[in-house]
Amino acid sequence: MFFNKKNKNEIDLTRLPQHIGVIMDGNGRWARRRGLPRSAGHSAGADALKKIITEANNLGVKYITVYAFSTENWKRPKEEVDYLMSLLLDYLRNAEKTLAGENVVIRAIGSRKELSQEIRDQIIKTEEFTKNNTGIVMNIALNYGAREEITNAVREICEDVKNGKTDIDSITDKMVENHLYTKGQPDVDLLIRTSGEQRLSNFMLWQVSYAEMWFTNKLWPDFKPKHLRQAIYDFQNRGRRFGGV
Ligand code: FPP
Repeated sequence: MFFNKKNKNEIDLTRLPQHIGVIMDGNGRWARRRGLPRSAGHSAGADALKKIITEANNLGVKYITVYAFSTENWKRPKEEVDYLMSLLLDYLRNAEKTLAGENVVIRAIGSRKELSQEIRDQIIKTEEFTKNNTGIVMNIALNYGAREEITNAVREICEDVKNGKTDIDSITDKMVENHLYTKGQPDVDLLIRTSGEQRLSNFMLWQVSYAEMWFTNKLWPDFKPKHLRQAIYDFQNRGRRFGGV
């Protein structure tokens, strides 16, 4: 049973999750069930995403991170990788007009060096264009992998130790956080994964340490604002103890 508009008031807007992570899974299956190419599933997935960002922003959620392309996704057929990259490029370009108009701050997290020059340039442009907005911060995880992110943090901290900028005894979890792509942002407190899979797939392993996990069998292109509201409602009705009693 999912919420419709009239149940919107059931969500306590004073206790929203601060940061929602979303693993948008099931685009391929959505397309296959319709006899369509996988690209059609990704395209429908991009449309679904736009509505979810608008809804999260309107509710007042401060941060959302969506898993658009993982460091492992390069293993997919070249045709699919190329399609996803062109979709991302379009999404970033259009976001300048649409999501920016909705006051969304758009950022890309992940390793940029493997991305095409065109996408890298567009990321810089879109980030620059939206950076002074005051609405939701949307991190697009693009060529993102949590192990790469953490390994990178370790490398940077080791460099600082080597150069005498810090010493080993001063290393804290806060310091590690300051070397992650999400530096300065709150931890993810609600993690949503669609399509019935229940795993993390190298997504924000550090940031989800205390996140509530919310899974649904819905395939990503079928995931609607009412499902987001349901996830938030469920989140608000769970007991979070952070290791305490
Ligand atoms: C997983 O579904 C989804 C992806 C690997 C890509 C996610 C991309 C989008 C939702 C659209 C583009 C995003 C942006 C930001 C424009 P899958 O292909 O693994 O589905 P399957 O498991 O059913 O095959």
